[in-house]
Amino acid sequence: MEPESVLQTHDLYKYILDTTVYPSEPEPLKELRAVSATHPNAMMSTGPDAGRMIQMLLKIANAKKTIEVGVFTGYSLLLTALAIPDDGKIVAIDMNRKAYEVGLPVIQKAGVEHKIEFIESKALSALDKMLENPDNEGSEWDRGLRQHTL
Ligand SMILES: C[S@@+](CC[C@H](N)C(=O)[O-])C[C@H]1O[C@@H](n2cnc3c(N)ncnc32)[C@H](O)[C@@H]1O
Repeated sequence: MEPESVLQTHDLYKYILDTTVYPSEPEPLKELRAVSATHPNAMMSTGPDAGRMIQMLLKIANAKKTIEVGVFTGYSLLLTALAIPDDGKIVAIDMNRKAYEVGLPVIQKAGVEHKIEFIESKALSALDKMLENPDNEGSEWDRGLRQHTL
């Protein structure tokens, strides 16, 4: 059974998924969602409706460099990789690589692995390390990180 999300009835949520979200969900994301459903912590995965919203925001912002904090099997990571340009980059941080490896074959098959740098670490220390790198100074990442650490 799908979660009801912010909607109050399961039927309405299912209707939206069936008529809008699932029909327009890219094939690699469908595949990743199916693979993630077999994981014992499947409920941690980003829902396809939330994913649709994130993808829209990435497009509106014209995002090229992003940071993914909390990867799990990679649903929101893959949707980001599909949304940003071919020379875009995602730093993906998770303290546990095992779940990422469940989704990795789908990410590789989708041809977007080259945009991803996976860091197995607790997020705060990885983000602090990024700020130490002068190459990130003044970049989209630097501005974003400093905003979030204020
Ligand atoms: C809700 S899941 C992320 C869902 C994912 N974005 C998706 O689309 O499926 C949360 C993830 O954050 C990771 N996590 C939790 N606390 C963390 C921390 N302090 N540093 C790094 N990763 C963390 C967990 O290992 C888990 O994989």
